[in-house]
Amino acid sequence: MRGSDPLVRAARAARRRAVAPFSGFRVGAALETAGGGIVTGCNIENASYGLTMCAERVAMFSALSAGHRRFRRIVIVADTEAPTPPCGACRQILWEFGGDLEVVLANLRRVTATHRLADLLPLPFDARLL
Ligand code: THU
Repeated sequence: MRGSDPLVRAARAARRRAVAPFSGFRVGAALETAGGGIVTGCNIENASYGLTMCAERVAMFSALSAGHRRFRRIVIVADTEAPTPPCGACRQILWEFGGDLEVVLANLRRVTATHRLADLLPLPFDARLL
């Protein structure tokens, strides 16, 4: 995927809507649905800090609440040279609701890394084990 891909551009646009007054670290995410649609999210911070929600989970919960259930890829954008990978909590949520997604990491200029979620979350706990 290239930095000019519509999914990357959507994640960059979402990043501009980040609510991150405490960290100043703005993140955007764009999920591609199985049907080719795009659902975005940005990180949202709050005054007690601990209720902060990452861009990836905002995107996934937004997509689920809009009725989407199957996904192909997620792009995560931050304004950093080093790729910004999803945190542990987001890996768990993305795995449970998105399966082995392609995870594309990008900055404001280019794609910096691509992974499979299964590689980022080895030996996952999920509903199959309940
Ligand atoms: N953050 C994300 O939204 N996604 C990531 O992948 C890493 C971290 C947010 C959470 C917090 O608002 C800020 O970035 C700093 O951790």
